[in-house]
Amino acid sequence: MRPDPHSYADAAQPQTQSIDLDLRADFQDQVLHGEITLRFRSPGGGPFDLDTRDLQIQSVASLDGAPLPFTLAAPEPILGSRLRVDLPHGSRGLRIRYRTSPQATALQWLAPSQTAGDQPFLYSQSQPIHARSLAPLQDTPRIRVSVGSARFTVPARLRTLMAAAPRGREPAGAEAVDLFEMPQPIPPYLLAFAVGDLVQRPLSPRSAVWAEPAVAAAAAHELAGVEAMMLAAERLFGPYEWDRYDVLVMPRSFPYGGMENPRLTFVTPSILAGDRSLVNVIAHELAHAWTGNLVTNASADDFWLNEGFTVYAERRILEALEGRESAEMHAAAGLHELRTALDRFAAHPERTRLRNDLRGVDPDEAYSTVPYEKGYLLLRKLEETAGRAAWDGFLREYLAAFRFQSIVTQQFLDFLEQRLPGLAGRAGALEYIDGPGLPPSAPLPRSRRLEQLRTGAAEPANPTELLVLLQSIAPGAARLREMDARWGLSSRRSLELRHTFVVLQLRAGVEGAVEAARQLLLATGRMKYLRPLYTELLRCDRAAAERIFAEARGGYHNIARAVVEGLLKGDPPKG
Ligand code: BES
Ligand code: ZN
Repeated sequence: MRPDPHSYADAAQPQTQSIDLDLRADFQDQVLHGEITLRFRSPGGGPFDLDTRDLQIQSVASLDGAPLPFTLAAPEPILGSRLRVDLPHGSRGLRIRYRTSPQATALQWLAPSQTAGDQPFLYSQSQPIHARSLAPLQDTPRIRVSVGSARFTVPARLRTLMAAAPRGREPAGAEAVDLFEMPQPIPPYLLAFAVGDLVQRPLSPRSAVWAEPAVAAAAAHELAGVEAMMLAAERLFGPYEWDRYDVLVMPRSFPYGGMENPRLTFVTPSILAGDRSLVNVIAHELAHAWTGNLVTNASADDFWLNEGFTVYAERRILEALEGRESAEMHAAAGLHELRTALDRFAAHPERTRLRNDLRGVDPDEAYSTVPYEKGYLLLRKLEETAGRAAWDGFLREYLAAFRFQSIVTQQFLDFLEQRLPGLAGRAGALEYIDGPGLPPSAPLPRSRRLEQLRTGAAEPANPTELLVLLQSIAPGAARLREMDARWGLSSRRSLELRHTFVVLQLRAGVEGAVEAARQLLLATGRMKYLRPLYTELLRCDRAAAERIFAEARGGYHNIARAVVEGLLKGDPPKG
């Protein structure tokens, strides 16, 4: 029985409880030489299936070293290759020696020129189903694992950071071994590490930012408010359960805004706007420490349980720190993005439900803003229907009841019915969960400021206001020139503003817009910016889109490269 459509893990077979990892990074060949030990929750035997992708399996042995027979199946397009091991009766675990491929989808090996410094860099991105290209695993969030020990052998001038507790460093000639442990059980998509020339700047007794030396000062300035965010989040959602909260500022090719790796959020350097205007990304990744990392979606079918709850939590944190108007502005911008996505999915209404059936669908392809913003609207609807006090009480109970568990949407609904009987019915929750589009009863975040901005009754007072204004208008070339002169849009450090502006310039056919787009597409690998820029470029100048991609692709992560290739091939656009 395989309950997760994206994993070979079989519910009738032993379940992994903890792993030990021993990895040696070979920057020359761009491979990891690995050994993983899996220990089971309870002893078992017979066929045991693991997920792998592009791994070379060298040997499989029992915990006491006896070789075990195994077969590696031919690769399936989405799932990868099933590794089936024949376990003797009463097995408590197994040990596998393997090596990764230079094409491993979870890894990006960067040359010094692709970093902010002069050393190579390596990092992993496991969500949603890339951990299997790092190590053979039961790569489903239904099965949580702790990490007894992780050892990374790396060149001595580099250091490893893992989303785990550090346990020291041992010299090993020209190399060094960095040691870690992850006592809290996590879904495999949260396994994460980075190797590079990294330094630390403290933010508070339990928080620090890590970055390449050239960006460390800017990072510390931008993230000075992290402790205040943690305190606000704890007041809302209960104690922070992961000891430390550190942030790692990644090289520019990092494909996401942020990734909620436990104890160590990874963020794009594009949030370093200089004015702290993009720290909602940190509020979001921090909020995942409760929603997602503590209570986890059981598979990609229930992804909204991670992201919808986290957007809701992110905006509650922002509201506590900056006030209702600021949170409302973000919500209004989110609604705008949701509407755009729903329009693009007009031909695939089934993709706009919160509860999905993604059998046969690559979760990276199903990715959109819908689980984020439609999920947010459902939770806000529940809050408004129940009243904030009752809803906040429920949220805390929900997080406490399912902490360190992985659940499906039905478990959330059952718990809701038990604690706040009738609420889901009154709020029309199933329309959001199993119905397409935006239910007519959905709350519509409204920001008086935003309306004033749109009608010209007010001038933007900060970068967020400027951004939502840009997102909600379609000015011609002359107006764009004026706006640029007024706000210096084309020379901003914030890529958030610049990419929005350049998309408008491309749409308006402004001279020089293609070159401005090229500059941005070379400066970042963040998919949130690549998608709209390439989409717009394709509409106005396909040859330029192809030329720029040929120039920039070497700097993109595998996942981002595949997304842009899809756009160029004319795959249906994603929200
Ligand atoms: N967990 C996601 C990133 C992700 C999702 C990676 C699916 C791989 C597969 C992360 O928490 C996220 O949502 N990041 C957003 C930032 C945010 C403020 C909405 C992003 O990257 O844009
Ligand atoms: Zn998220």
